[in-house]
Amino acid sequence: MRTNGQKGPVNLGLETARLTFRGQSVDLPVTVGSENEAAIDISKLRKATGAITLDYGYLNTGSCESAVTYLDGENGILRYRGYPVEELAAKSRFVEVAYLLINGHMPNAKERGEWSALLNQHSMIHEDMRRFFYQYPEHAHPMAILSAMVVSLSTFYPELSQHRPNEPEEAITIAAKRLMSKLRTIAAFSYKKSIGEPFVYPRSDLKYCANFLNMMFSSPVCPYEIKPEVVSALNVLLILHADHEQNCSTSAVRLVGSARVNLYASVSAGICALWGPLHGGANQMVIEMLEDIIASGQSVKAYVDRIKTTKELLYGFGHRVYKTYDPRAKIIKAACHRVLKVLGVNDRMLDIALELEDIGMKDEYFLSRNLYPNVDFYSGLIYRAIGIPKEMFTVMFALGRLPGWIAQWKEAREDTRFKLQRPRQIYVGPHKRRLLPGQVASETSKTSRTKK
Ligand code: CMC
Repeated sequence: MRTNGQKGPVNLGLETARLTFRGQSVDLPVTVGSENEAAIDISKLRKATGAITLDYGYLNTGSCESAVTYLDGENGILRYRGYPVEELAAKSRFVEVAYLLINGHMPNAKERGEWSALLNQHSMIHEDMRRFFYQYPEHAHPMAILSAMVVSLSTFYPELSQHRPNEPEEAITIAAKRLMSKLRTIAAFSYKKSIGEPFVYPRSDLKYCANFLNMMFSSPVCPYEIKPEVVSALNVLLILHADHEQNCSTSAVRLVGSARVNLYASVSAGICALWGPLHGGANQMVIEMLEDIIASGQSVKAYVDRIKTTKELLYGFGHRVYKTYDPRAKIIKAACHRVLKVLGVNDRMLDIALELEDIGMKDEYFLSRNLYPNVDFYSGLIYRAIGIPKEMFTVMFALGRLPGWIAQWKEAREDTRFKLQRPRQIYVGPHKRRLLPGQVASETSKTSRTKK
C-alpha cells in the first residue's frame, strides 16, 4: 500500500506482463490503482525491444498516476478525491469542491473562511487589463478572449514566472487563488463587452456564484435580483464540471505545463482545448443543433435518421470514457427540470431534447455504439433559462473546470517522476532524397530578387 494512505496498492514488483517481440521477451511491471485498475508500465519498452507503442487518441494509454479523480466509464461512476460527485453536487458549494480538488481535502470552517476571503481579495483584475477588452472586435468569441486574458495574467502577476520544481509553494498557491477568482471576473467582463454594457465589478459581500451572476446581469440602471435557485443551479453545474481526470483540456494543461511554463500559460492552453466542439464546445453545439431542428421544421425522428445516414454527430451524445449514461448528465437533467419549473420557463428546446434523448436511447445505432447523453446535453438548457447566451456556455465550462486544471497541474509538478511530455511517432514519409535542379530557385536568381 502507499504510505500517504490516500491511494491504494501500486506495483509491488509481484505482477508482470510478458511481451514477446521479434523473438525477444521482456517482463513489464504492472501498476494497480486504488480501484484495481491495472496498467502495464511500458517505461522500459523501447530500451528493451527498440519498439514503441502506437495508440491513436490514447484510448489505451495512461499518462500519469493521479489521486484527483476516479472515473469508471462502464459503470457511470465519478468521484473527486474519493467523494461521489452526486453527494458533492447535493451537499456542497463549488468553492468547497474547488478547495477539495486543489488541496486534497474538504476545507474545515477556518479553511473555508480563509479560502472565501482570498477569493474575494483577488477578484479584481488590473485596470490596464480591463482596457484589453475594448480592443477585441465586436463578435470575438469569449473563449478566445478568456484564453488571451488568462495568459496575460502572467504579465501582470509575474511572481510565478516558471513552473520550476523549486518554485516557492507560496507563489503557486497565490497564482491558483488569483486564477480561481479572476477567471470569474474575466468571464463576466467578456460578456459585458460582447453586449456593449459597462463592466460590473466584483462585490466582496457576495459569494462566488452570486457574485458572478451579479457581474453578468446587473447594470447601472437595473440591479440584478439574485435568486437562490439560480445560485444553487450554477453551483451544481460548476461542481459537475470541476474535474474529469485526463480529458483533452486537462491533458493539454499537463502537457504544456510539462515544459515548465507557468500555471497561467498552461491553463490558457487548456481553455483553447476546451473550446473545441468535441470537448467543452459541445454545449454550444447542442443548442445550435436544437435551434436547427426547430428552424428546419423537421421532426426529431427525421433529424436522427439523417444523422445516422450522413454519420454526422448528435452533439451532447457519446463520450470517450463513458459507455453508459454520463452520471453528470443525470444530475443536470434533473436540475434542468427543477430550474425551468422554478423560473417558470417553458422552453420548447427542452421538449425537443427530451424527444432526442428518448429516440437516441432506443435506437440500435446509438445503443450499439454506447452513445448516451453526456454532460453537455442538458447544461445549455439551464444556462439559457438563467439568461446566459450560448457563446458563453463553454466559458461556463471553463469556470467549472478550472480547479481541476489547477489540481492536475500541481499534481504533475509535485510528482517525483515529472518529465517533459514528448510522445514519439512512427515516421511514414519518404526515404531520404535530394533536391533536384530546378526544384528551388538558384543562388543567382535568389540574389537578384533580393537586390530588387
Ligand atoms: N453522434 C453520432 N455518432 C457518434 C457520436 C455522436 N455524438 N459519437 C460517436 N459516434 C459514433 C462514431 O461515428 C463511431 O461510429 P462508427 O463506429 O460507425 O465509425 C462510433 O460512434 C464511435 O465513435 P468514436 O468517434 O470512435 O468515439 P470517440 O470515443 O472517439 O468519441 C466523442 C467521443 C465525445 C468525441 C464523440 O462521442 C463525439 O464527438 N460526441 C459529440 C460531441 C460531444 O458531445 N462532446 C462532448 C463530450 S462530453 C464533454 C467532455 O467531457 O469533453
